[in-house]
Amino acid sequence: MTNEASRLAAAKWRLKLEDCNNTSDFRELARRRLPGPVFHYIDGAADDEVTRRRNTESYEACDLVPNVLAGVADIDMSTTVMGRKIAMPLFLSPTALQRVFHWQGERAVARAAEKFGTYFGISSLATVSIEEIGETISTPKLFQLYIHKDKGLNTAMVEACKAAKFDAIALTVDTIVSGNRERCMQTGFTSPPKLTVSSAFDFAMHPRWTLNYLLREKFELSNLKDHVREGSQQAISIQDYFNTMLDTSMDWKTAEKVRADWGGEFCLKGIMSVDDAKRAVDIGATAIMVSNHGGRQLDGGRAPFDQLAEIVDAVGDKLDVICDGGITRGSHVLKALSVGAKACSGGRLYLYALAAAGQPGVERAIGKLHAEIERGMRLMGARSVADLGRENLRYR
Ligand code: LAC
Repeated sequence: MTNEASRLAAAKWRLKLEDCNNTSDFRELARRRLPGPVFHYIDGAADDEVTRRRNTESYEACDLVPNVLAGVADIDMSTTVMGRKIAMPLFLSPTALQRVFHWQGERAVARAAEKFGTYFGISSLATVSIEEIGETISTPKLFQLYIHKDKGLNTAMVEACKAAKFDAIALTVDTIVSGNRERCMQTGFTSPPKLTVSSAFDFAMHPRWTLNYLLREKFELSNLKDHVREGSQQAISIQDYFNTMLDTSMDWKTAEKVRADWGGEFCLKGIMSVDDAKRAVDIGATAIMVSNHGGRQLDGGRAPFDQLAEIVDAVGDKLDVICDGGITRGSHVLKALSVGAKACSGGRLYLYALAAAGQPGVERAIGKLHAEIERGMRLMGARSVADLGRENLRYR
């Protein structure tokens, strides 16, 4: 996915935020600024990372076919998803542990999302509380729920979302066990990160990150720490966390019960098959994220964009279909919208930028993607998101 401009950026001895114009550039800056274990946790995926690569490559299997002379002086980039109108058709997927990547963590990402008027998602494994995010931003908020064995914890998180007036809950359905993340096994990444003989040199080589981590607010998984020691008081790998803390008996009945307990906009995150998309409709879900968790779970699994059309055809008129994963360019968003997605979302597309430069980094990354979508809509002759349709796409 690296173009010539990104290769030039990567060759710079002193790469700065102002040099970053695309996801690949932000990734390179993050790689330089983070200790190896932290960078590889964000960047890595399962097994041979085939699915992770395919998630982005899938967008290249088809081409956009523009219409011209459409009068595009004023265009409307908004879309309505999970009950809220957002100002651009791309939002920030929930991701875990953000204060490990940059000391500003979720606060920075939330404020950047607010600035662009788009959905911000926080994970059950977030490093700030649901309550604080509720107080911080007024723009749409999504909470990503992981069903734990500790039922009291599950209830507490849903109740906290109600109290903080979150707009939607996304139940994670693709993480019944952890994917095989070999980079994390090699680096020994844990939550909280711990100093080991092998990582000490790496931390010493990244003094800015290390000092921020040591001297700023103490790391915690804010929504979990009162229920489980692992992840906050006791270091654990994310693989071990998932495999010991999450409830492998979770099934459709569980999902239906969460939907009923929550009572608001309800999304299933990680739906990939048409059958499951139909069942999501049956249990009253109002949205699905077509997603394979960034290729971090089932390697060899199909890419969301490859699977999008058949899911949209089956359920697109009954719930919001969101295309999550692999997006590095505005043109990827235009392609997913043309297939029929209500909106797109992504994690690494803002995480590299967060790691690289905190809130200004996230704002620059989202700003670049916003500009790409806006420019792309004009070049496509689309005055609104609804103007994009299958006639705008051809497969090779
Ligand atoms: C991960 C989880 C925490 O993929 O979302 O690491």
